Amino acid sequence: MKSYQTILAETQAWAQEVFKKIDNKLSQMTLRSYDKLPDGVTEDGFHKEKSINWWTNGFWGGTNHLMYMQTGNEDYLKTARRSEQKMDEALHHNVDKLHHDVGFMWHLLSGINARLYKDPESRNRNLLAAATLSSRFVLGGNFIRAWNGAWGGCSNYNWTIVDCMMNLPILYWASEEVGDDRFKRVAMAHADMCIRDHVRPDGSVVHIVEHDRETGECVKTYGGQGYEVGSSWSRGQAWGLYGFVLSYMHTKEQRYLDTAKRIANYFIANCCDDWLPRVDFRAPAEPVMYDSTAGACAACGLIELAKNLPENEGGMYMHAAVQILKAMTENFVDWDPANDHMLGYGTVRFPVDGDWKKAEVHVSIIYAEYFYTEAILKLLGMEFNPW
Ligand code: GLY
Repeated sequence: MKSYQTILAETQAWAQEVFKKIDNKLSQMTLRSYDKLPDGVTEDGFHKEKSINWWTNGFWGGTNHLMYMQTGNEDYLKTARRSEQKMDEALHHNVDKLHHDVGFMWHLLSGINARLYKDPESRNRNLLAAATLSSRFVLGGNFIRAWNGAWGGCSNYNWTIVDCMMNLPILYWASEEVGDDRFKRVAMAHADMCIRDHVRPDGSVVHIVEHDRETGECVKTYGGQGYEVGSSWSRGQAWGLYGFVLSYMHTKEQRYLDTAKRIANYFIANCCDDWLPRVDFRAPAEPVMYDSTAGACAACGLIELAKNLPENEGGMYMHAAVQILKAMTENFVDWDPANDHMLGYGTVRFPVDGDWKKAEVHVSIIYAEYFYTEAILKLLGMEFNPW
């Protein structure tokens, strides 16, 4: 296997070409969607929104921040800041509806604005979001509780989900920022629970775990957004993969890097010859159902994993990231700047009762586009870690 640096060097021309097309498309989209917090795209191809507390509301602004960093085009910065301002309604007026995904919602908006441009109001917002997340930590059980209320008819009082690994960076940031490791301790306790209860010995991950509230012990697992109990929902794999790399980058604890490698090895072993990510690695082979969100997030994790390993060992992970990105670019992307649909073939969940018509399947999803953009910028040498 070539070293990751050789692979990176060989990929530059391709990545530059792709980035030009991303910019060509997003520079139009940012004008149309300046005032939106989009989650996806309507049937006629334009951004659509969900509620103000929806967990994906930070991704559009986050994409715009990355685009401004790379291009200097002020339109992107204006849209990113507009997203952050709009989100004040959720942070200041809807706090009991907030949930474990506040890292996704603010760290790419206020977090980036605070870190790169030293905005004191953004710093304050991000600290509030971090405090909200750490307040969800359950003493005794030692986990960060997922969601609110009930899910699919079950009480989720003692549930954790692997997705939450991606929300931990806002806690690492908050500890650095206030010079007190209390947020970091919460993050690490949750990450350690996740190694114990969400990551199986073979590197596959469990989406939902129900715990004993006093001891933290796993009492039950659920298939969640995957195919069934015991299956392997590919976006969950990606959340775990990138989430553990990020926990390693923030703490330098070897066990997080080792866990990321275990999940990555399983992910790569389950990529089909075409490198196009399926929704669940343990679902029946037919019908073939893709999820570009899993591919894009996993690609970011694989690139960072490669960069945190010795040059030769990292080659395998960089190779996999590039193959996934090239396959998705070839098969899933629409470069027409007249619509808001860039990376298609995202799938929100494996359909309940196998009814694909009821599910959001093979659609354009905002976080697929965010992670795709982040991954291409990483290939082009972006040093800044948005997380
Ligand atoms: N965090 C929710 C999802 O991945 O759909």
